[in-house]
Amino acid sequence: MKRKFLAGLLCVAMGVTTMAGTASVFAAEADTETEAPADDADAEAPADDAAETVDLGDIDVENTRIGISIYQFADNFMTLYRTELVRYLTEDLGFKESNIIVQDGKNDQAEQTNQINNFITDQVDVMILNLVQSSSAPQITDICNEAEIPVVYINRQPDETESDRWEADGIKATYVGADARQSGTFQGEEILETENKGDINGDGKVSYIMVQGDPENIDAQYRTEYSVKALTDAGIEVEELLLQRGDWDQAKGQQIVQDALTQFGDQVEVVFCNNDAMALGALQAIQAAGRTINKDIYLVGVDALTDAVQNILDGNMTGTVFNDHFSQAQTAAQMAVKYLKGEEVAPVNMVDYVKVTADNAAEILEKIK
Ligand code: BGC
Repeated sequence: MKRKFLAGLLCVAMGVTTMAGTASVFAAEADTETEAPADDADAEAPADDAAETVDLGDIDVENTRIGISIYQFADNFMTLYRTELVRYLTEDLGFKESNIIVQDGKNDQAEQTNQINNFITDQVDVMILNLVQSSSAPQITDICNEAEIPVVYINRQPDETESDRWEADGIKATYVGADARQSGTFQGEEILETENKGDINGDGKVSYIMVQGDPENIDAQYRTEYSVKALTDAGIEVEELLLQRGDWDQAKGQQIVQDALTQFGDQVEVVFCNNDAMALGALQAIQAAGRTINKDIYLVGVDALTDAVQNILDGNMTGTVFNDHFSQAQTAAQMAVKYLKGEEVAPVNMVDYVKVTADNAAEILEKIK
C-alpha cells in the first residue's frame, strides 16, 4: 500500500506547479477554494516505479556527492521529510548513502552557514538546503553560485525578490515547497465545514486563539493570515482572543493554550495551530482543562503527523492539512538531478496540500504510516 502511495505521490510530484517567479499560483487566484486538490492523494499510481521514472542521464551516481542541511533535526515534520529525502535519493535513485552528507543546522544560522562553507570546501556537486533563516538566502546563494554549486532550497521559502533574481541572473538556485496560503485556507475551510461554522456559542462570531510557528517563516505568516481569511471571506465575523508564537514546538503549544484557556475559558471556540506538533500540545492542554473537541471547542493543525491523523479519527482533533513531505522530498531530489544533468530548473516548484478531516483521515493514515 505504501509503495503504491509513494508512486502515486510521485505522480503528484511530476505534476508539480512551477512558477516563473513573478507570483505564486495562489496570488494569481482570487478564490483558493476552487484549487482544492482533495483528490490528489488518490492519484493513480503510474505503472513505473520511481527509480524507472526519473532519467538520470549520464550522472555518475557512484561518485556524486550531495550536501544536505536541515534547519533543525529536532523538528518532527522535517524529520519525516529528511528520512524520505535520503530514502528516495539512495533507494530509488541509487546515490550512495556515504555520498549523501546530512547536517543538523541546530536552529542556528551561523552554524548552518559554516556547514555550507564546508560543503563548498568539500566540493559537493549539489546542495539541498532547509535554511534556518530564509532571509539568509541571498548571502548563501551568492557563496554557492561563486563556487558553482547549484542549490535546491526546501521548506522555508526565500523572498520572491530573491527567486526573481535567480531567474533574471541565471543563478542555479531553486525552491521546492508548498504554498502555505493553501494550507491556511484549508484550515479555515475545515472550521467552516463544522455544523455551526465555528460559532459554538451562537453569539454571531468565531472567537479563536492562534498558535503561530516561527514568524520569520513564511509558512507561519501565511497560515496565520489565510486560515482567518477563509472565515472572513465567507462572511463570518471573527474575534482574535490571542495570537502567540509557539515556534513549531509541542511544549510551547501546550503552554500557550493552557494559559489561554485559563484566561479566556469558554470564550475560546477555535484553536488554530500553524502545525500539528503545536496542535498536539494544544490537545493536551484542552483535555486537561476538561474541554471536549468538536463539542465545545475546535482544533486544527497542519502537517498530518500520524498522531494528529489518529486523533482526528478518534474525534480528538477537528482537522489537519497534509503537508506532503513525500512529494516535496522527491521533487527536491528531482530538481537536484536536473541540475546534475545541466538542465534548466524553474525558480519555484510547488506541491499541493491535502485537507484532512474525519471524512478521509482513515485513508490518509493508511497512506502515511
Ligand atoms: C511545517 C512545520 C515545520 C516547519 C519547519 C512547516 O512547513 O508545517 O511543522 O516545523 O515547516 O520549517
